Amino acid sequence: MSPAPDLRVFLDQLRAGDELIEIHRATRTDGEISAIVKEVEPAGAPAVLFHNVVGSDLPVVAGVFGTRSRIASAVGQPQYGLLEHALTLIEEGGPAPVTVARDVAPVQQIVQDAEDVELARLPFGVHSKDDAGTYITSGVVLARDDLTGTINTGMYRMMITGRRTLTVNAAPDHDLGRVIARARAAGRPVEIAIVIGHHPAYAIASQLKNPTSVDTHELVGALLGAPLRVTPGATVDLPIPADAEIVLEGRVDPTNMEAEGPFGEFSYYYGSAQAPVCTVTAVTRRADAIFHDLHPTHAEHRCLWLFPGREARLLQAVRRSVPGVRDVRIPFMGGSLSAYIQVEKQKQADGTQAILAALASDHFIKHVYVVDEDIDIHDDQQVLWALNVRFQAGRDLMVLPNQKGIRMDPSARRVNPESATELVTDKLGFDATRPFFPAFPDRADRPVAAYADVNLASFLDENDLDRVQSWLSFRQGAGE
Ligand SMILES: Cc1cc2nc3c(=O)[nH]c(=O)nc-3n(C[C@H](O)[C@H](O)[C@H](O)COP(=O)(O)O)c2cc1C
Repeated sequence: MSPAPDLRVFLDQLRAGDELIEIHRATRTDGEISAIVKEVEPAGAPAVLFHNVVGSDLPVVAGVFGTRSRIASAVGQPQYGLLEHALTLIEEGGPAPVTVARDVAPVQQIVQDAEDVELARLPFGVHSKDDAGTYITSGVVLARDDLTGTINTGMYRMMITGRRTLTVNAAPDHDLGRVIARARAAGRPVEIAIVIGHHPAYAIASQLKNPTSVDTHELVGALLGAPLRVTPGATVDLPIPADAEIVLEGRVDPTNMEAEGPFGEFSYYYGSAQAPVCTVTAVTRRADAIFHDLHPTHAEHRCLWLFPGREARLLQAVRRSVPGVRDVRIPFMGGSLSAYIQVEKQKQADGTQAILAALASDHFIKHVYVVDEDIDIHDDQQVLWALNVRFQAGRDLMVLPNQKGIRMDPSARRVNPESATELVTDKLGFDATRPFFPAFPDRADRPVAAYADVNLASFLDENDLDRVQSWLSFRQGAGE
């Protein structure tokens, strides 16, 4: 019988594909581990496994979600088909989880109750220089939606504030933010479990923009092609993923708000907020648990958030408005604030309509670039070329001043002297598609269509082929 999908199975897959760096020398959590993960980021953002962590008996792995191809391969899909695949799974759902007894669930080999919990014993790392403290960065938070009864998961930054307390920064427009807001109004706590380390499908499913009627544990099963194994919580009434590495169980008090942050975020600026406090009721883990760290100012944060989660939702929303939309991409180097859209235009105004649909569907997006179907949006150089040779600012630029801004964009402006969180920003749309009228000239291209795809392997010797292929793979920024 093949082993249940878990973090170890995936690390073996990375090992086999030469995508895992293993470090046996002593390393510290005070920023040293983060610095090493950042240092190797430009070389394909490999995952790094630290076997010997000073002050901890647990190994630490980071950089797991560094590239799109790694995320796609984790769930057995080709990179370029994953957005469509994710939309189909959300539509069709997946198998219900199967429950296994607590005494055979690896994640409960060790159970520390409230008395024994000492969060500082876990190897939380320091990531950015002005971070206010140590944070859980890879934790997938699971909670029950009080309206539908389904399990919902998401990832949120969580600052460690005491021996067994932490803050949970779930934005009010996320499902967990809504659960917490309703619990606040009803005067009751919210039970949660925080999953640190599991098969990547667990985190990937947490980023899918599914309606709360769809149980996220079923989506994990759909991504894995087999039901997720769960076990009852030790102190909470929640199904806990049985094959996780470490789980923190706890209760969020929605009325007890504390300041958290600053914390270095996906835009490489700091975020901070008022967030409710969670009191941990148990820490459960495997006897030989691997601690999973995620670097927040690294390609892996944006990659996991965008791919397929935010990009799939964007594709669906823009396509609903403009049927000729073929593909979308939110490039990593755009700080998650810009989007490329590829469209086969059917109407003259399809470009501008796609801009409006993109901005309306995702409030993080600030700049939208729309190009024709002959431009590969996975190649920044082609998008830039289209922008230069097909775009006329006086005709094709859409400017929308004073739209909703976000705190992690330091150029957003405050508009309310009473509020540091109410921000506006200017949004731009670049319609770089060719106008239908007057007729746009043909581009200069390869002489004969038959040479469109040259098979280099039949012309180059092995060394030259390797060299060319490694240049090609580094043409994009790390992780793309
Ligand atoms: C590494 C990582 C960290 C994240 N941190 C936060 C956070 O601190 N606060 C937040 O509201 N969303 C955060 N997100 C985004 C949410 O996890 C994500 O949007 C999720 O889909 C929310 O679920 P929902 O909108 O489907 O409810 C993070 C995403 C990732 C990948």
